[in-house]
Amino acid sequence: MARGRFITIEGGEGCGKSTLLRGIAEKLKTAGIPAIMTREPGGTRLAEAARQLVLSPPDQQAWSPLGEALLMNAARSDHVDRLIEPTLQAGEWVLCDRFIDSTRVYQGLSGVSGALLQTLHDEITRHTQPDLTIVLDAPAEALISRRSSRGTSDVFESRPIEFHKQVRQAFLSIAEREPERCIVIDAQQPPSSLVSQALDVIHRKLVPA
Ligand code: TMP
Repeated sequence: MARGRFITIEGGEGCGKSTLLRGIAEKLKTAGIPAIMTREPGGTRLAEAARQLVLSPPDQQAWSPLGEALLMNAARSDHVDRLIEPTLQAGEWVLCDRFIDSTRVYQGLSGVSGALLQTLHDEITRHTQPDLTIVLDAPAEALISRRSSRGTSDVFESRPIEFHKQVRQAFLSIAEREPERCIVIDAQQPPSSLVSQALDVIHRKLVPA
């Protein structure tokens, strides 16, 4: 049986990742391609518990950047072992809202050493690398209003605009460094054209002719 394909979607908070994910999943289903949707941090019971701990710490205490990085990676290790890898091996596609690039960007910007993050990534994702990463891009200012209409805010969302501008640049530079894996899509277009642009890329890169 052919191994499933692994697609990750990355970008700043409020850029429309989950809408795009749902749109892609629907179209794949119509095309007869089985796919699951999942997210990071999260996706399994343990990883969802870690998500709660890291994004909404008790008594509003703050994790150290290293503590955050370790929790993100602990969650990922369970997610990869229990859900992502078995699903790919069963021939299904995995659509994941955030993955290793988010750790590179957010924990990297918080000051965790790139070498340490790389070591953790190599260990956890040795056999499980994304086939395609879609980076949804929009100016930080445009994402603020989308987030405020959602009404919720976690430890990362509530950081100042300068941080979110750096997040955007960091995702763009990963995409520039890894053009084979990454594609940047303008997040400010209507959801339907966003989905069709993503599907064009998926067909070109992942679906055998
Ligand atoms: P989301 O609901 O937009 O995906 O939010 C998850 C938050 O977690 C987001 O602010 C980015 C942050 N995050 C990291 O800092 N490191 C990571 O490795 C991941 C997956 C997410």
